[in-house]
Amino acid sequence: MKMKNDLFPEHIRPHLIPRPKGELFYRCLGCDAEYPVEKLLYVCPECNAVLMLHNRNQADLHKIEGSTWQQIFDYRRMVKIPALKGIYRYHEFIGPVIPLESIIYLGEGHTPVVAASQFLKEKVGLDFFYKNDGQNPSASFKDRGMASAFSSIKYLIDQNLVSDVIAVCASTGDTSAAAALYASYLGPLIRSAVLLPHKKVTVQQLSQPLGSGARVFEIPGVFDDCMKIVEHLSSNYPVALLNSKNAWRILGQESYSYEIAQDFDWDMAHKVVVVPIGNAGNISAIMNGFLKFFKAGIIDQLPKIIGVQSEHADPVYQYYLEPVEAKRVFTPVNTKPSVAQAAMIGNPVSMPRVVVLAKEYNQESGQDNVFFVQVTEQAIMDWQLTANQNGHITCTQGGECLAGLVKARAMGLVSSNETAVLDATAHAIKFSEFQDLYFKNQIPAPYHITPDPDRINLPELITSDNPNLSPSQEKRLAKSELGQFIQEISGKIAQKMHLTSSSE
Ligand SMILES: Cc1ncc(COP(=O)(O)O)c(C=O)c1O
Ligand SMILES: [Zn+2]
Repeated sequence: MKMKNDLFPEHIRPHLIPRPKGELFYRCLGCDAEYPVEKLLYVCPECNAVLMLHNRNQADLHKIEGSTWQQIFDYRRMVKIPALKGIYRYHEFIGPVIPLESIIYLGEGHTPVVAASQFLKEKVGLDFFYKNDGQNPSASFKDRGMASAFSSIKYLIDQNLVSDVIAVCASTGDTSAAAALYASYLGPLIRSAVLLPHKKVTVQQLSQPLGSGARVFEIPGVFDDCMKIVEHLSSNYPVALLNSKNAWRILGQESYSYEIAQDFDWDMAHKVVVVPIGNAGNISAIMNGFLKFFKAGIIDQLPKIIGVQSEHADPVYQYYLEPVEAKRVFTPVNTKPSVAQAAMIGNPVSMPRVVVLAKEYNQESGQDNVFFVQVTEQAIMDWQLTANQNGHITCTQGGECLAGLVKARAMGLVSSNETAVLDATAHAIKFSEFQDLYFKNQIPAPYHITPDPDRINLPELITSDNPNLSPSQEKRLAKSELGQFIQEISGKIAQKMHLTSSSE
């Protein structure tokens, strides 16, 4: 594809198509040790703490004016090169060492930002948007991180640094769907295996890695048990770990913040970003993304961040209940059943990242700017259904976000002159089982949810009073019978919908 380079302003042209640059390295969050990225690495070999990726030449990016970066990204929107259509629109900030040829693009990122319906806005009491991450290729936000992690593996394969990669992950359902999809795209170079807590992912989520051809292992227990097993596997066998422990996942998910900045025309004043927390990878990436754009002068303000947890899986919320930093102690919790099942995690792998990044975020903001709220299971379900009954397509975790916004508003953490952006982290369809249980009034007692009769919606079978007037695939009705059937059924529907005949 030939670019019409002369259509772009002269000062943008040299930056339009990025070339590999910079020097990425892993830095341990525990002991600050540094490691090169030419090897698959997930935790510090010295102290076992999680890692973050840094660019040794990050300061070079600050030599370009923030307003020039804005223009580069705005013009890059027009570029038709597939590798630059997803998260790598922000190549210099997302993975500057990756050549375009190694980038995997399956359509992830740049998800629609949809204004809340007028009814919803009025009900909640402020302007807000849903960012529809369910419109990613595997129908959740995890795809941004997978595009990054698999592009980095492809880069190592292309350089003959690794071969015969076995990708493994533990999952509450969405990580495995995403990992299996990206791995299968790179088949036969990569094979994948996913570990799921038995009966703790929805039928739709289970079908995804199966459909992508991954080996699927179901393990008794909860996600935290699966996570321990993949950690053991990755420490003792030559496998690539695709959980958010993998720092490339976090790096790729930073695109979420860049997309919001760009979609709101780089104006972060009075913006509030609301996100559900499970393993705490997403909130870590979001804080880091905004911090990087802020330090580069691409945005001149950091938006408020609100992390939301269910009362049935709230270790991060519990940690921050202690106002005095020095007195905070992290204690994993035993989770209870949650309809926000994808975020039902008692011992978040990225907790150390949250602690470091939230502190830096507040410091850079010059005030407390990261908050954590806890919501009930009832509120999660009721707000998810309310959102979807008003034109949205959010999963239960997106319902958790909205419940969190409502809670934050009631607590005075958010005011009516602010604008919130909520992550609908997955597509509603993935979690339709919970909607089904709610509508059928069959939610098991441990969830502590009582369906609101006004929200229940069930199909109604409309039949003829005459048992002979029942068409089937095998037995079609004769013309006159069909006429009677149509008239009777139409009459019954009209009555139910309180319609009066237009011929009367
Ligand atoms: C749909 C959905 N929402 C929210 C989360 C929580 O995100 P994180 O684990 O990055 O905190 C997950 C996964 O864990 C998820 O699949
Ligand atoms: Zn270390």
